[in-house]
Amino acid sequence: MSSRFSRAASTYEEWAVPQRETAKKLVEFIKPRGLILDLGCGTGFVSEHIKGTTVGLDISEEMVRVYVEKFGKGILGDAENLPFKDKSFDYVLSNFALHWTDWRRSIKEALRVARKGVGVSIPVEGSVSFSEFPFPREEEILKLFNPTDYLILEVDIPFTGFELVKFFHFTGTSLYKGKSKVKTKRELERLAKHSGREKFRVLLLKLLK
Ligand SMILES: C[S@@+](CC[C@H](N)C(=O)[O-])C[C@H]1O[C@@H](n2cnc3c(N)ncnc32)[C@H](O)[C@@H]1O
Repeated sequence: MSSRFSRAASTYEEWAVPQRETAKKLVEFIKPRGLILDLGCGTGFVSEHIKGTTVGLDISEEMVRVYVEKFGKGILGDAENLPFKDKSFDYVLSNFALHWTDWRRSIKEALRVARKGVGVSIPVEGSVSFSEFPFPREEEILKLFNPTDYLILEVDIPFTGFELVKFFHFTGTSLYKGKSKVKTKRELERLAKHSGREKFRVLLLKLLK
């Protein structure tokens, strides 16, 4: 692994505190068994808590390289267009990734390739008070997918001021060439002056088949 890859991954892991906390809760909520796809796997926070066999998929080459180092099987791919046949996995789990995608398409794709069920954690509207990021609306997701069960978590971001800027930098767009921009310059300036604690409002979906 080149030092660039290890740097991106270790910085992500160091800063992604809310993501790590939510990954554990998602696995506890779904209790997946068998062959599992970790969708938008990043460095594999979800896979760390899974006892069965996992395959990671991510759009970032860096993340896939790191995932393969840790867990063996990783695939470069797009959550909106999964390179798998129908029902290829027992469960598909995705933590803090699908808000970067067209979530309608990617959740539909997750359901297509899962035999038993899908678990998704996705930050929704109401996250990060000053952000201009278009977080999805929980009502829309619930209406469209009618989950077996769901939870709403308020997940603390344990950084303020310039540390908050670094948090968004190291856990956001800078790690991959996604479609959306997480921050405008105006947002960055506001962020650096921000002294209050921020939260993600995270929707956990259980979609059993
Ligand atoms: C905030 S990270 C979360 C990573 C990991 N799931 C975790 O729990 O730490 C978001 C991840 O989604 C990936 N991602 C973004 N758009 C994607 C897409 N269209 N298909 C697959 N992965 C995508 C990014 O490359 C990044 O690794």
